Amino acid sequence: MSNPAPVIAIDGPSASGKGTVAHKVAEALGFHFLDSGALYRLVAMAAMNRGIELDDAPALAALALDLDARFDSSTIKLDGHDVTDAIREERVSGAASKVAALQPVRDALLARQRAFREAPGLVADGRDMGSVVFPDATLKIFLTADAAERARRRYKQLIEKGMSARMDVLLQEIRDRDARDSKRAAAPLQKCADAVELDTTGIPVDAAVAQVLALYRGK
Ligand code: C5P
Repeated sequence: MSNPAPVIAIDGPSASGKGTVAHKVAEALGFHFLDSGALYRLVAMAAMNRGIELDDAPALAALALDLDARFDSSTIKLDGHDVTDAIREERVSGAASKVAALQPVRDALLARQRAFREAPGLVADGRDMGSVVFPDATLKIFLTADAAERARRRYKQLIEKGMSARMDVLLQEIRDRDARDSKRAAAPLQKCADAVELDTTGIPVDAAVAQVLALYRGK
Protein backbone atom coordinates (compact mmCIF):
# COMPACT_ATOMS: atom_id res chain seq x y z
CA MET A 1 0.00 0.00 0.00
CA SER A 2 1.59 3.31 -1.04
CA ASN A 3 -0.29 5.68 1.23
CA PRO A 4 -2.16 3.59 3.76
CA ALA A 5 -4.99 5.06 5.81
CA PRO A 6 -3.97 6.17 9.33
CA VAL A 7 -4.57 3.75 12.17
CA ILE A 8 -5.04 4.42 15.88
CA ALA A 9 -4.25 1.18 17.72
CA ILE A 10 -5.83 0.86 21.15
CA ASP A 11 -4.65 -2.18 23.09
CA GLY A 12 -5.14 -3.22 26.68
CA PRO A 13 -6.57 -5.82 29.04
CA SER A 14 -10.20 -6.97 29.16
CA ALA A 15 -12.82 -4.54 30.37
CA SER A 16 -10.34 -1.66 30.50
CA GLY A 17 -12.83 0.51 28.64
CA LYS A 18 -10.92 0.19 25.35
CA GLY A 19 -14.01 -0.72 23.38
CA THR A 20 -15.99 2.31 24.49
CA VAL A 21 -13.06 4.69 24.14
CA ALA A 22 -12.07 3.30 20.72
CA HIS A 23 -15.65 3.54 19.47
CA LYS A 24 -16.00 7.15 20.55
CA VAL A 25 -12.64 8.12 19.08
CA ALA A 26 -13.68 6.53 15.76
CA GLU A 27 -16.98 8.43 15.86
CA ALA A 28 -15.30 11.74 16.61
CA LEU A 29 -12.91 11.35 13.68
CA GLY A 30 -15.37 9.67 11.27
CA PHE A 31 -13.01 6.66 11.14
CA HIS A 32 -13.82 2.98 10.67
CA PHE A 33 -13.75 0.78 13.76
CA LEU A 34 -12.30 -2.69 14.26
CA ASP A 35 -13.35 -4.66 17.34
CA SER A 36 -10.77 -7.42 16.98
CA GLY A 37 -11.88 -9.13 20.20
CA ALA A 38 -15.28 -9.69 18.58
CA LEU A 39 -13.57 -11.77 15.88
CA TYR A 40 -12.03 -14.08 18.51
CA ARG A 41 -15.39 -14.21 20.29
CA LEU A 42 -17.11 -15.16 17.00
CA VAL A 43 -14.60 -17.94 16.34
CA ALA A 44 -15.19 -19.25 19.88
CA MET A 45 -18.95 -19.10 19.51
CA ALA A 46 -18.92 -20.75 16.07
CA ALA A 47 -16.71 -23.52 17.51
CA MET A 48 -19.07 -24.10 20.43
CA ASN A 49 -22.06 -24.15 18.06
CA ARG A 50 -20.36 -26.79 15.91
CA GLY A 51 -18.95 -28.88 18.76
CA ILE A 52 -15.32 -28.13 17.83
CA GLU A 53 -12.90 -28.51 20.76
CA LEU A 54 -11.32 -25.23 21.90
CA ASP A 55 -7.80 -26.65 21.50
CA ASP A 56 -8.25 -28.13 18.01
CA ALA A 57 -6.01 -25.57 16.27
CA PRO A 58 -6.37 -26.77 12.65
CA ALA A 59 -10.18 -26.98 12.84
CA LEU A 60 -10.41 -23.60 14.60
CA ALA A 61 -8.10 -21.94 12.07
CA ALA A 62 -10.23 -23.30 9.21
CA LEU A 63 -13.32 -21.96 10.97
CA ALA A 64 -11.66 -18.54 11.43
CA LEU A 65 -10.79 -18.34 7.73
CA ASP A 66 -14.36 -19.12 6.66
CA LEU A 67 -16.15 -17.23 9.41
CA ASP A 68 -19.43 -15.76 8.12
CA ALA A 69 -19.25 -12.60 10.21
CA ARG A 70 -20.95 -9.28 9.44
CA PHE A 71 -20.36 -6.04 11.28
CA ASP A 72 -22.53 -2.99 10.87
CA SER A 73 -22.74 0.11 13.03
CA SER A 74 -24.50 -1.54 15.95
CA THR A 75 -24.91 -5.26 15.28
CA ILE A 76 -22.65 -8.26 14.80
CA LYS A 77 -23.97 -11.27 12.92
CA LEU A 78 -22.67 -14.82 12.80
CA ASP A 79 -24.07 -17.12 10.12
CA GLY A 80 -26.82 -14.54 9.60
CA HIS A 81 -27.90 -14.47 13.28
CA ASP A 82 -27.62 -11.40 15.50
CA VAL A 83 -25.09 -12.35 18.21
CA THR A 84 -24.24 -8.81 19.39
CA ASP A 85 -25.10 -9.53 23.04
CA ALA A 86 -24.51 -13.28 23.07
CA ILE A 87 -20.79 -12.95 22.26
CA ARG A 88 -20.33 -10.80 25.42
CA GLU A 89 -21.43 -13.59 27.77
CA GLU A 90 -18.73 -14.79 30.15
CA ARG A 91 -18.63 -18.33 28.73
CA VAL A 92 -17.80 -16.85 25.32
CA SER A 93 -15.19 -14.52 26.88
CA GLY A 94 -13.38 -17.47 28.42
CA ALA A 95 -13.58 -19.52 25.23
CA ALA A 96 -12.37 -16.55 23.14
CA SER A 97 -9.24 -16.18 25.20
CA LYS A 98 -8.54 -19.91 24.73
CA VAL A 99 -8.88 -19.87 20.94
CA ALA A 100 -6.92 -16.59 20.81
CA ALA A 101 -3.91 -18.34 22.34
CA LEU A 102 -3.55 -20.49 19.21
CA GLN A 103 -1.18 -19.05 16.60
CA PRO A 104 -2.97 -20.67 13.60
CA VAL A 105 -6.21 -18.93 14.65
CA ARG A 106 -4.41 -15.58 14.94
CA ASP A 107 -2.80 -16.07 11.52
CA ALA A 108 -6.18 -16.93 9.99
CA LEU A 109 -7.68 -13.66 11.27
CA LEU A 110 -4.82 -11.38 10.24
CA ALA A 111 -5.91 -10.50 6.68
CA ARG A 112 -9.50 -10.02 7.79
CA GLN A 113 -8.38 -7.49 10.41
CA ARG A 114 -6.09 -5.61 8.02
CA ALA A 115 -8.95 -5.30 5.52
CA PHE A 116 -10.66 -2.88 7.93
CA ARG A 117 -7.95 -0.32 7.15
CA GLU A 118 -9.67 2.03 4.76
CA ALA A 119 -9.80 5.79 4.21
CA PRO A 120 -10.27 8.07 6.01
CA GLY A 121 -8.78 5.95 8.81
CA LEU A 122 -9.27 3.18 11.35
CA VAL A 123 -9.44 2.87 15.10
CA ALA A 124 -8.50 -0.70 16.03
CA ASP A 125 -9.27 -2.15 19.45
CA GLY A 126 -7.55 -5.29 20.77
CA ARG A 127 -4.46 -6.80 22.35
CA ASP A 128 -1.97 -6.87 19.47
CA MET A 129 -3.16 -4.05 17.22
CA GLY A 130 0.04 -2.05 17.71
CA SER A 131 2.42 -4.98 18.00
CA VAL A 132 1.31 -7.37 15.23
CA VAL A 133 -1.66 -6.30 13.13
CA PHE A 134 -0.79 -2.62 12.53
CA PRO A 135 2.84 -2.19 13.61
CA ASP A 136 2.97 1.03 11.54
CA ALA A 137 -0.04 2.59 13.32
CA THR A 138 0.05 6.39 13.53
CA LEU A 139 -0.75 6.31 17.24
CA LYS A 140 -0.53 3.39 19.67
CA ILE A 141 -2.34 3.56 22.98
CA PHE A 142 -2.09 1.04 25.82
CA LEU A 143 -5.23 1.51 27.90
CA THR A 144 -5.35 0.06 31.40
CA ALA A 145 -7.39 0.27 34.61
CA ASP A 146 -7.01 -1.72 37.80
CA ALA A 147 -8.73 -5.11 37.94
CA ALA A 148 -11.30 -4.17 40.61
CA GLU A 149 -12.43 -1.16 38.59
CA ARG A 150 -12.65 -3.29 35.45
CA ALA A 151 -14.78 -5.87 37.29
CA ARG A 152 -17.09 -3.08 38.48
CA ARG A 153 -17.47 -1.72 34.93
CA ARG A 154 -18.20 -5.20 33.57
CA TYR A 155 -20.74 -5.82 36.34
CA LYS A 156 -22.53 -2.59 35.51
CA GLN A 157 -22.57 -3.42 31.77
CA LEU A 158 -24.02 -6.89 32.35
CA ILE A 159 -26.67 -5.72 34.81
CA GLU A 160 -27.71 -2.91 32.45
CA LYS A 161 -28.19 -5.52 29.74
CA GLY A 162 -30.44 -7.51 32.07
CA MET A 163 -27.87 -10.30 32.49
CA SER A 164 -26.97 -11.76 35.87
CA ALA A 165 -23.48 -11.29 37.31
CA ARG A 166 -21.47 -11.67 40.51
CA MET A 167 -18.65 -9.26 41.33
CA ASP A 168 -16.36 -11.88 42.90
CA VAL A 169 -16.79 -14.22 39.93
CA LEU A 170 -16.19 -11.39 37.45
CA LEU A 171 -13.04 -10.25 39.23
CA GLN A 172 -11.66 -13.79 39.22
CA GLU A 173 -12.54 -14.21 35.55
CA ILE A 174 -10.82 -10.93 34.67
CA ARG A 175 -7.69 -11.99 36.56
CA ASP A 176 -7.66 -15.41 34.88
CA ARG A 177 -8.14 -13.85 31.46
CA ASP A 178 -5.38 -11.26 32.08
CA ALA A 179 -3.02 -14.06 33.09
CA ARG A 180 -3.90 -16.15 30.02
CA ASP A 181 -3.69 -13.17 27.65
CA SER A 182 -0.37 -11.91 28.95
CA LYS A 183 1.41 -15.23 29.51
CA ARG A 184 0.59 -16.89 26.22
CA ALA A 185 3.34 -17.41 23.65
CA ALA A 186 1.32 -16.12 20.67
CA ALA A 187 1.03 -12.32 20.60
CA PRO A 188 0.84 -11.87 24.38
CA LEU A 189 -0.82 -8.73 25.72
CA GLN A 190 1.99 -6.23 26.23
CA LYS A 191 2.65 -2.55 25.94
CA CYS A 192 4.72 -1.80 22.82
CA ALA A 193 7.75 0.39 23.38
CA ASP A 194 6.20 3.07 21.15
CA ALA A 195 2.73 2.99 22.79
CA VAL A 196 1.43 5.69 25.11
CA GLU A 197 0.04 4.22 28.34
CA LEU A 198 -3.26 5.64 29.57
CA ASP A 199 -4.53 4.47 32.98
CA THR A 200 -8.28 5.09 33.09
CA THR A 201 -8.84 4.10 36.74
CA GLY A 202 -11.16 6.79 38.09
CA ILE A 203 -11.17 8.71 34.78
CA PRO A 204 -14.47 9.25 32.93
CA VAL A 205 -14.72 7.84 29.41
CA ASP A 206 -15.01 11.26 27.78
CA ALA A 207 -11.76 12.41 29.40
CA ALA A 208 -9.95 9.33 28.07
CA VAL A 209 -11.43 9.96 24.61
CA ALA A 210 -10.29 13.58 24.72
CA GLN A 211 -6.76 12.48 25.65
CA VAL A 212 -6.56 10.03 22.74
CA LEU A 213 -7.87 12.68 20.32
CA ALA A 214 -5.34 15.22 21.59
CA LEU A 215 -2.51 12.71 21.17
CA TYR A 216 -3.66 11.89 17.63
CA ARG A 217 -4.02 15.54 16.62
CA GLY A 218 -0.58 16.19 18.04
CA LYS A 219 0.97 13.63 15.63
O1 C5P B 1 -11.46 -7.50 23.73
P1 C5P B 1 -12.29 -8.70 24.11
O2 C5P B 1 -12.45 -8.89 25.57
O3 C5P B 1 -13.59 -8.72 23.39
O4 C5P B 1 -11.46 -9.95 23.55
C1 C5P B 1 -11.86 -11.29 23.81
C2 C5P B 1 -10.62 -12.17 23.87
O5 C5P B 1 -10.01 -12.20 22.57
C3 C5P B 1 -9.52 -11.66 24.81
O6 C5P B 1 -9.60 -12.23 26.10
C4 C5P B 1 -8.23 -12.07 24.13
O7 C5P B 1 -7.84 -13.34 24.55
C5 C5P B 1 -8.60 -12.18 22.68
N1 C5P B 1 -8.06 -11.11 21.85
C6 C5P B 1 -6.79 -11.25 21.35
N2 C5P B 1 -6.27 -10.34 20.49
C7 C5P B 1 -6.99 -9.27 20.14
C8 C5P B 1 -8.29 -9.08 20.67
C9 C5P B 1 -8.79 -10.02 21.53
O8 C5P B 1 -6.11 -12.22 21.67
N3 C5P B 1 -6.48 -8.40 19.28
